[in-house]
Amino acid sequence: MLEAAQNLIDDYEIIFKENPLGSGFRYRYVKPEKVNYREFIQPAFEMRREDVRFDKVVCSASEVREFAKGTLEALGFEYLRVEEQLHDIAYIFMERFNINCLNCRMELIYSDKCKRFHVDNVFLRMITTLLGPGTELQLSDELQTVLQVKTGDTVLVKGKQFPGEPTKVLHRSPKISHLGTPRLIFVMDY
Ligand SMILES: [Fe+2]
Repeated sequence: MLEAAQNLIDDYEIIFKENPLGSGFRYRYVKPEKVNYREFIQPAFEMRREDVRFDKVVCSASEVREFAKGTLEALGFEYLRVEEQLHDIAYIFMERFNINCLNCRMELIYSDKCKRFHVDNVFLRMITTLLGPGTELQLSDELQTVLQVKTGDTVLVKGKQFPGEPTKVLHRSPKISHLGTPRLIFVMDY
């Protein structure tokens, strides 16, 4: 399946949260504006200030919805109501690449881990930033441009196991420890 998928993705894509299923669903390519952390500073809510993660292997998009709903509730973020959005993205992803399972992770992060640009040891990874500053990408152009995914949006990146030429697009988690706000991310891997 992944040989055939080779032509289906550039090195990265941004998937917008607004109605990903609407009008035939297109993955759009954007260049998010320059990094500006200040706009992401949010009022402090009750914080445990410990990284927390939940992992699950799922075999259908509806399981993604259930897992997202349950973990959002467990963390006190059910008001975000993003389980449908995550379901839709998982559904499209599984159809598009013809895959029947995904590793899912809901993670609340206060620390500065994964702050170096890297490529993950997976085939494909989709990272949705639900709260806090979005994932940063470093492109392979001469200027090594750094882009930041908008909060709420999803970035789809190739991993080391993806067939063909290794990806030149690196990603990292933004530094957040000085901001006093956590990040909440939902990651889906194949
Ligand atoms: Fe990563």
